Amino acid sequence: MSNKTIAIIKPDAVAKNVIGEIVAKITQAGFKVNGLRLIRLTRAQAGAFYEIHKERPFYGELIDYMTSGPVVPIALEKENAVEDFRKLIGATNPAEAEEGTIRKLYGAGIEANAIHGSDSDENAAIETNFFFSRSDIVNINQ
Ligand code: CMP
Repeated sequence: MSNKTIAIIKPDAVAKNVIGEIVAKITQAGFKVNGLRLIRLTRAQAGAFYEIHKERPFYGELIDYMTSGPVVPIALEKENAVEDFRKLIGATNPAEAEEGTIRKLYGAGIEANAIHGSDSDENAAIETNFFFSRSDIVNINQ
């Protein structure tokens, strides 16, 4: 079990100006921030990031949405990080997310759902390398 995960605060939440509120929820839940950036993804980057969903009917819209404004990838560390972070953000569809979760609080819909969290230790490592280079991140070897 790894202790790292990746969050991405998505364009809808950045546009709502709630980056600070979301980072506070994450750190209050015991996660440590090892890396954080504010970036605008190109279509090629968003397409590569979500390559796993390429055959899904919503793929094109997902790429439009993820490139519609800046996003905030955050490298996080905590024991049992992947699972605990997915609990903190709640179900993909904010309407189905538990009260108090980040998607329930800040998500607008199944696509504009405020935040992404890695779904496995393997993907957490891939997503860390996608957004951060070794010099951007602290504690990368711990
Ligand atoms: P995320 O957890 O980042 O992983 C894939 C994303 O695709 C998901 O959050 C949503 O933003 C989006 N997504 C998933 N299911 C749907 C759907 N049925 N319609 C539109 N977008 C979706």
